[in-house]
Amino acid sequence: MIIKTKTAIPASEITDPLIFKDRRKIIKALLATMVTGAGISSASANANPAWANLPQGNADTELLTPTPIELIKNYTNYYEFAFNKQDAGSLAQNLRTDPWSVEISGEVEKPGTYYLEDILRRQTLQEYVYRFRCVEAWSMVVPWIGFPLGNLLTLVKPLSTARFVKFTATYQPEVMPRQRNNAMLHWPYVEGLRIDEAMHPLTILAVGMYGDILPKQNGAPLRLVVPWKYGFKSIKAIVKIELLQKPPITSWTQFAPNEYGFYSNINPAVAHPRWSQSSERLLGSRFFSPRRQTELFNGYGEQVASLYSDMDLRHFF
Ligand code: MTE
Repeated sequence: MIIKTKTAIPASEITDPLIFKDRRKIIKALLATMVTGAGISSASANANPAWANLPQGNADTELLTPTPIELIKNYTNYYEFAFNKQDAGSLAQNLRTDPWSVEISGEVEKPGTYYLEDILRRQTLQEYVYRFRCVEAWSMVVPWIGFPLGNLLTLVKPLSTARFVKFTATYQPEVMPRQRNNAMLHWPYVEGLRIDEAMHPLTILAVGMYGDILPKQNGAPLRLVVPWKYGFKSIKAIVKIELLQKPPITSWTQFAPNEYGFYSNINPAVAHPRWSQSSERLLGSRFFSPRRQTELFNGYGEQVASLYSDMDLRHFF
């Protein structure tokens, strides 16, 4: 066991509050030694066997070229702040992200509340260039900076009874207008994975993108990224991770169970009740530009299809 609970840490080892102010510095320092981990057909990606076979996309010209950061920062889904794509860019700047800790509880040997800085000190940050496909049928390519969620879970030692993982986002109604109005979803935002999905090496916790810390509107300081699932599974601003015996009720499934299932694996053959999922608009492309054909599991099937070999994918959505 490497990380410790707040109470178990001797005073001399507790993160100095001043260090919170330096999260960008800590992340930058970790980035300086970072290895490029996933994504395009670079020599460094191939040097790491775990990532050597990542898909290249299905269009001729299409290597995973990152979408311009300005587009990503200004087209966000962050319902605690706004129901449109633009307003979270400014409203989210009021979010308090220092200090930040994550409570880990449930079916684990080592539950506790861990400061983000203490978590990061025990992780190797890598760049993961992933295609990110929203359930609304648009997609982008993002060079995330993060580490496998499984590495953190291993440190807290899941019990054999842990079958699901529940994630809860921050609740800050003072600065999150839609929480204040109690609008649309039940707050805070909740998501979940099966334990084997959570332990899969493609599932990451991201703290940055484009070589810097995450913009607040994109989920700072800590968000989930599960590249073979629709984007709403990739919960932002995580404050709690619980290991459970039963599947959690997630925000979108609770809101519209016939539209947003627990699995929500990207599948062009299963239409959303109100629109097709067979193709997607690339973020930044013109409205009438040719669309990209959506791939099963977003193109990551080689890595993840075996997780679902006993399921009829037409019925699990
Ligand atoms: N996490 C929280 N806490 N609140 C949200 O509204 N929206 C989800 C997901 N994570 C959301 C969230 C949806 S619908 C999508 S598509 C992605 O975040 C969008 O990520 P992005 O805004 O960084 O592109």
